[in-house]
Amino acid sequence: SAPSLIDRHGRKISYLRISVTDRCDLRCRYCMAEHMTFLPRDRLLSLEEIATIAERFIERGVRKIRLTGGEPLVRRDVVELTRWLGKHLGNGLDEITMTTNANRLADHARALREAGMKRINVSLDSRDPDTFRFITRHGDIHKVIGGIMAARDAGIAVKINMVALKGLNEHEIAPMLAWCVEQGFDLTLIETMPLGAIDEDRTDRFLPLTAVKDDLDTRFDLAPSAHATGGPARYWTVEGSGTRLGLISPLTANFCDGCNRVRLTTEGKLYMCLGHDDQVDLKGALREGGITAVDDGIDRAMANKPARHDFRIERDAAPAVERHMSVTGG
Ligand code: GTP
Ligand code: 5AD
Ligand code: SF4
Repeated sequence: SAPSLIDRHGRKISYLRISVTDRCDLRCRYCMAEHMTFLPRDRLLSLEEIATIAERFIERGVRKIRLTGGEPLVRRDVVELTRWLGKHLGNGLDEITMTTNANRLADHARALREAGMKRINVSLDSRDPDTFRFITRHGDIHKVIGGIMAARDAGIAVKINMVALKGLNEHEIAPMLAWCVEQGFDLTLIETMPLGAIDEDRTDRFLPLTAVKDDLDTRFDLAPSAHATGGPARYWTVEGSGTRLGLISPLTANFCDGCNRVRLTTEGKLYMCLGHDDQVDLKGALREGGITAVDDGIDRAMANKPARHDFRIERDAAPAVERHMSVTGG
């Protein structure tokens, strides 16, 4: 079989993130501008093409696949894709999961669970209806909470993703952790990252998680945990509960040494790092040369994966990369 995936820095790639659409039904302020131009639909990979490429990765040692967007549930056939990929569970693949805004999750939770999804990450930056509407520009908190509860009722473990935003949700961080403890959810806090132009300066919203953690330590009994999901978070357990607190600190605690992941975009480009533009066109490879050409493209990507991102949050600085998080799914 084809060789496994080791990059030029000796890191083993076992985690594939697949963005199934760059579109989203929300417009979170730190993620997108109010007016976005999305890809025309004829540029997207078909379901069959996504599955074919994903299967090359599974064959070559990827054990975890995460479906992202934009918002993955905006793409109509995403449940079918989950079902297809789910067939590999226990046979090479350990986990198929998703990062979603939960706006449409109530309609799909049961089908996703039946397709083999046992765990899901939901972006929820505020539980206050007005703040939630302000941050997402279009979101209805009640609908999203409904989606989250539907996932739980379907037997899917929920982790809440919260981007820490100065002056917007910083006072909700401790209450969010308390709520997650109550509900039996995990919580991961995320530092805002400089991807793509937005309608404000990210400097005004950046909250270093070092300070957030110090504050949480005064309110909760947090014990370091060896828990690992294969993602970038470091974990603590909230003593006396089943809840884990994760911190994703690209700005204050770089985690690139342990990077195990690459990203396939909805257009079939393989991005080797969230913070760089290096990419290989796997759609062209597949259409022109079939799976042999895809394997060659993957080999080229492995030989060129950057060592680390170079994110900085500085006033008036251009974003590290021009594309938005929604192109590569984070
Ligand atoms: P778990 O499987 O639960 O660990 O999920 P995950 O953290 O891998 O995925 P998720 O989609 O929930 O991403 C959470 C945050 O981590 C998002 O803001 C992503 O952009 C960010 N993230 C994921 N991978 C990387 C990475 O390689 N580099 C950077 N800088 N951020 C990442
Ligand atoms: N910085 C940090 N996190 C971001 N997300 C979207 N844009 C950014 C950004 N610029 C988060 C979303 C979602 C995850 C995939 O990435 O909130 O939880
Ligand atoms: Fe959509 Fe997620 Fe970006 Fe918000 S963070 S606009 S929900 S893709």
